[in-house]
Amino acid sequence: SVDNSAGIWDAENVRSTLPKRNEDSHKGTYGTGLLIAGSPSMPGAAMLAGIGAMRSGVGKLVIGTAEEVIPVVVQRLPEATYERNGLIQLAEGKLTLDQFRVIAIGPGIVPNELAEKAIAKILESDVPVVLDAGALSKRDYHERQAPTILTPHPLEFARITGVKVNELQQNREHYAQVCAKKLGVTIVVKGQHTIVAFPDGETWKNGTGNSALAKGGTGDTLTGMLLGLLCIHDNWKHAVLNAVFLHGACADAWTEKRSAHTLLAHELTDFLPEVWKSYE
Ligand code: APR
Ligand code: MG
Repeated sequence: SVDNSAGIWDAENVRSTLPKRNEDSHKGTYGTGLLIAGSPSMPGAAMLAGIGAMRSGVGKLVIGTAEEVIPVVVQRLPEATYERNGLIQLAEGKLTLDQFRVIAIGPGIVPNELAEKAIAKILESDVPVVLDAGALSKRDYHERQAPTILTPHPLEFARITGVKVNELQQNREHYAQVCAKKLGVTIVVKGQHTIVAFPDGETWKNGTGNSALAKGGTGDTLTGMLLGLLCIHDNWKHAVLNAVFLHGACADAWTEKRSAHTLLAHELTDFLPEVWKSYE
């Protein structure tokens, strides 16, 4: 049965579920995230997602990307470490995945046979996974025990589920819920009023965000924030909901004083420190 009245994940929910940073903690407390992102024609996606992750509390971040992307990203994110040609290493089974608390893959990667092989290796692991952009394709996830989170925009949703975009947009909660249950995954249906549907049927609507986000790169930032927040939360559902909320709240902070036309995706995470603080 399908319940079409998703609640709104609001400021009070966020305030009561964001984790604290304990005084006696160290980087190991917050885990190591693995981000597989970026390719020669889309190097910025790795940078945007990488910054999103490291601004979101993760202890350590490893970025697996194409060799020529590394110098581009390292300039803006000297805090991360790198796995050269991460997709090839993954596909060949050369990365030990259980050292990572969470894996995110997809921003700026090209959907091809190599990517599909790398994703298959990741899905064999017991590590929570976020799949976005180039990592989103039609496949079966029922073998997985760990949380699997898909972050499609409406076109990507159509590609992976077969539901037509105009049908989806007329009843986003319904299709999010039905497809999350059917695929056995969490689906974050992006766009105005992002819907988060969990595989057990629990479904929420996000109340933050605005049209300033309608610009290339903002989705890559969200993927990074999901990776970071998943690393620091004990409750993975809260991590997903809080990442979507804070991402939108950063855009809302932007439009308090600035035109919605003018936001650049990399500026979203400049707002995160103060936005986050306001919910602590
Ligand atoms: N109101 C609120 N939020 C919005 C709005 C809006 N009107 N429009 C977009 N957003 C938010 C979405 O909810 C999402 O969080 O902005 C983000 C956009 O994410 P994507 O659609 O993935 O966009 P982008 O980051 O540009 O993706 C980069 O990856 O998915 C591929 O095809 C895509 O090549 C592109 C690349
Ligand atoms: Mg995207």
